[in-house]
Amino acid sequence: MQLIDGKAVAAQIKKEIAEEVALIKAKGGKTPHLAAVLVGHDGGSETYVANKVRACEEVGFRSTLIRYESDVTEEELLACVDRLNNDDDVDGFIVQLPLPGHISEEKVTEAIDYRKDVDGFHPVNVGRMAIGLPCFLSATPSGIMELLKRYEIETRGKQCVILGRSNIVGKPAALLMMQKGYPGDCTVTVCHSRTKNIKEICRQADIIVAALGVPEFLKADMVKEGAVVIDVGTTRVPSDKTKSGFKLTGDVAFDEVAPKCSYITPVPGGVGPMTIVSLLKNTLLAGKKNDLVTKKT
Ligand code: GUN
Repeated sequence: MQLIDGKAVAAQIKKEIAEEVALIKAKGGKTPHLAAVLVGHDGGSETYVANKVRACEEVGFRSTLIRYESDVTEEELLACVDRLNNDDDVDGFIVQLPLPGHISEEKVTEAIDYRKDVDGFHPVNVGRMAIGLPCFLSATPSGIMELLKRYEIETRGKQCVILGRSNIVGKPAALLMMQKGYPGDCTVTVCHSRTKNIKEICRQADIIVAALGVPEFLKADMVKEGAVVIDVGTTRVPSDKTKSGFKLTGDVAFDEVAPKCSYITPVPGGVGPMTIVSLLKNTLLAGKKNDLVTKKT
């Protein structure tokens, strides 16, 4: 069994991005600038956004954090999106999800100019990804593909099972795993809460991407010998063993599943760090305004 070290791969890619940013700056180019909008004080979102801002600093980007209390109105948030769309200084921005119930995530996502949508959540980017056109790829699935590539894991013709059908992981991951070429060319099955015989389906899989958000859902008896297991779960489970009072727990029962795998990602330190790196890559791309991705169509 080989552990897929997302932290190490992410550090390497950050180094590559930092070198490119240094070159841009040396040539008198514009420093890439990412803005992040955070609504409320959800512990998970606070951590994710703080990590994104820190990563920007590490590679030499500019970053701006815009905060709102959870009683912000949809109108105010949409006005903020509009300001960021029209701020030439900001190359790309994200609105951290989830948003409070009184705000429509769809409305906010659609209001973002797709040329600044470095999360890759806008329907234009999702649609372009679906048909294999240049676009901002959704960060987590793109991070998974990068890990498969860097570890030279064979995907062509493999059976891939995706657990979860969310718009930000399951669906885009399914599209990327089935895309033409490497990494891709998989035969993909998507399982969700209504799927029957999940255990039997998983046992057929050469590659499993677990993105259900159910801690330790995938057990050893659901995994075939030699499978590749990618764990996207990041549930904060209460724990009296950690200083923070919680433990980040994946969707895979790691201790029992790992011995059966050819490759497996840990939680934390697997997919998580790669998600942030994908965001940095998209921001770098957004900064190069002449790219196909950001050209107005
Ligand atoms: N919430 C969970 N993951 C993400 C992400 O990648 N981007 C945003 N904006 N919100 C999230």
